[in-house]
Amino acid sequence: MADRNFISFEGIDGCGKSTQAKLLAAHFSTEDQEIVRTREPGGSPGAEAIRELLLTGATDKWSAETELLLFTAARRDHLEKTINPALATGQMVICDRFADSTRVYQGATRGDLRAKVDQLHEAMIGREPDLTLIIDVDPKIALARGLARNSGEDRFEDFGLEFQEKLRAGFLKLVQEYPLRCHLVDGNRPAEAVFADVLALAQP
Ligand SMILES: Nc1ncnc2c1ncn2[C@@H]1O[C@H](COP(=O)(O)OP(=O)(O)O)[C@@H](O)[C@H]1O
Ligand SMILES: [Mg+2]
Repeated sequence: MADRNFISFEGIDGCGKSTQAKLLAAHFSTEDQEIVRTREPGGSPGAEAIRELLLTGATDKWSAETELLLFTAARRDHLEKTINPALATGQMVICDRFADSTRVYQGATRGDLRAKVDQLHEAMIGREPDLTLIIDVDPKIALARGLARNSGEDRFEDFGLEFQEKLRAGFLKLVQEYPLRCHLVDGNRPAEAVFADVLALAQP
């Protein structure tokens, strides 16, 4: 699976990213093939500490610019400490959110920041997943699923339904922007049906 070693899942809160990432990791995991399942923001001790700063507290805790710097710092640490070392030793990496989430969230909150998102990505990250699966779900369904988790990490979910609709539109646009890397999966179905599509796209 030479060109499918780094796979990311994207989509709004509660669309089923973690569920599908888990299923895919379990599917590909064998004695010879180790799978690193990770997530953003976070995925390394330093980045997890930044995650806590980002996902808890009031919605106006950070300016959009500060938030972008924190996400980028967390991603850089995640890449250095977790993703790159795993890929270097031939492990497959399955990541719950990556740079596309920053593109979409920042685009939804402050569209004029997209150029800075791209500049920071270029300067500090410079890496895309080999394959990105965007799980598309009706925000009403996703929000109900997401809030049902009650994780305490609901700062973004607290932005409300209208915000989730904006995010959904942003993720749909990404498929047009990166047609070779990003693929849409209909997530408005039972997890097993969604996974059948995920698997078809992720097969080497
Ligand atoms: N296809 C699905 N149909 C119904 N419920 C689902 C589906 N996929 C995930 N769920 C449930 O919805 C909630 C959110 O799913 P999760 O995978 O954590 O989403 P995300 O990681 O995208 O926020 C979880 O409680 C999960 O068990
Ligand atoms: Mg998740």
